[in-house]
Amino acid sequence: MTLMIGIPRETAPEEKRVASVPEVVEKLIKLGFKVSVESGAGDAANFSDEVYRAAGAEIIESPAQLWGNSDLVFKVRGPSAEEVALMREGSTLISFIWPAQNPELLKQLAARKVTVLAIDSLPRTLSRAQKMDALTSQAGVAGYRAVIEAANAFGRFFNGQITAAGKVAPAKVFVAGAGVAGLAAIGTAASLGAIVRANDTRAEVADQVVSLGGEFVKVDYEEEGSGGGGYAKVMSEGFQKAQREMYAKQAKEVDIIITTALIPGKPAPKLITAEMVHSMKPGSVIVDMAAEQGGNCELTVPHQVTVVNGVTIIGYADLVSRLAKQSSTLYATNLFRLTEELCKTKDGNINVNMEDDAIRGLTVVKEGNITWPPPALKVAATPPAAAKSAATPAAKGHGHGGGGAPSSAGKTAVMFGIAALVFFFIGANAPAAFLGHFTVFVLACFVGYMVVWNVTPALHTPLMSVTNAISSIIAIGALVQIAPPLLGSGVPRPDDWIRWLAVAGIALTAVNMFGGFAVTQRMLAMFRK
Ligand code: NAI
Repeated sequence: MTLMIGIPRETAPEEKRVASVPEVVEKLIKLGFKVSVESGAGDAANFSDEVYRAAGAEIIESPAQLWGNSDLVFKVRGPSAEEVALMREGSTLISFIWPAQNPELLKQLAARKVTVLAIDSLPRTLSRAQKMDALTSQAGVAGYRAVIEAANAFGRFFNGQITAAGKVAPAKVFVAGAGVAGLAAIGTAASLGAIVRANDTRAEVADQVVSLGGEFVKVDYEEEGSGGGGYAKVMSEGFQKAQREMYAKQAKEVDIIITTALIPGKPAPKLITAEMVHSMKPGSVIVDMAAEQGGNCELTVPHQVTVVNGVTIIGYADLVSRLAKQSSTLYATNLFRLTEELCKTKDGNINVNMEDDAIRGLTVVKEGNITWPPPALKVAATPPAAAKSAATPAAKGHGHGGGGAPSSAGKTAVMFGIAALVFFFIGANAPAAFLGHFTVFVLACFVGYMVVWNVTPALHTPLMSVTNAISSIIAIGALVQIAPPLLGSGVPRPDDWIRWLAVAGIALTAVNMFGGFAVTQRMLAMFRK
């Protein structure tokens, strides 16, 4: 049986996205489905009915007919009560649902005896899930747009310039919260030439901030901020106080603040106080991405732009819709990847397989039964939290406050001791010829470690491929075997089979060598502007 996928027009105010775009509709049809689109569904994202029709979709005027005919409905926002009433029993809906925040909606959907996959409930830590991760794709668009909105409201260049008319200092941008949206904002602001700083309670994102061209500003207080699953936890009072002090200092120095701090299901932490806003230079801009969840800034008015003391505070909650063509295309691709997972047989039919971790996590209603929340994932996707996560003020000097530092220093000393004993044992017993090679080996490990340690994380992959290419130096060994020995050197001519093996060795090493350099070139090209 060939299922019909329906794409209704989004009805929520401010929503300009559409759940599928013409180029993805073509792919869905190739996967064996039929597709119908409500007339005007793509208008706000610049996809006309004609383009959908050309892609093979049927255009339907009435929403009731579209919902009634569809076996599978793709939507962006969760359905309204009227839309739930239009759903056909036994059909399947894929959209944002936010089940934790919308228990009533779940009940209504269950009562319609439908199946619902909430794209926001995807277990994001499964690496297989990345291609379907709409939260990530949409937050990335929002982070980019936040910087564009800031640039629009800011009266100066982002990059520093030296012109005949004078020297222009680069803008300073501070990003609070370096999750998906924050990282996208950091990358965008850095690529516009601004000096970018960022802070997050999760220390693990520091490397990512640096690799995108930002500087990670630490709070002077030791406390692990990871709450599992890639999300943060609510921090202690002591940490919050130290964080406020640091933010107050940044507010005085920077021109633009973009706030994205959030812990799912919790009100947004108030990081930027009214006092900090007043301390900013006139002409500065704050983009509060968490406006809809109460805002990270005390003075944000959700959905609006306000000016306080010359500081523009942007509280738009529709940043993604302000780039509707881009965000719709990415969202449509996320849903297409999910459809591929549901339709492995490529015959226009779906199987909501509850044994599959990703599908199980997504399914919040199955044939009229509420299946949310899903059981915990069998495989722990994040490393267990540090055993001693209790907050301790940053230990300076030689304090023994029961934190992790002294015991890890002790461990290092023991490891060094053991290593020294092993080396002594080898030195005393191994033959001299071995010792020479062994010394070179140990030094090579040490130098290699020191070199790699100082390379920016983003360059690790090109580094590996170039190392791979350089390691092809073993080709020299093979060349020595092929070359005839010097006359009178007394070295016997190698057997023919050894020389043929050397030829094969050179051929294989050449692949490694040229391939390694080619891959390195390609990867480095990605970093060049
Ligand atoms: P995310 O969960 O990936 O990132 C949030 C980050 O905030 C995490 O890295 C977390 O560690 C950090 N954080 C939490 N508490 C903190 C604190 N007290 N101090 C410093 N950092 C803290 O979320 P994502 O996807 O990046 O979204 C960020 C925000 O942007 C959310 O509020 C989301 O609703 C909002 N958003 C807004 C849009 C709009 O149109 N305004 C569109 C898309 C997202």
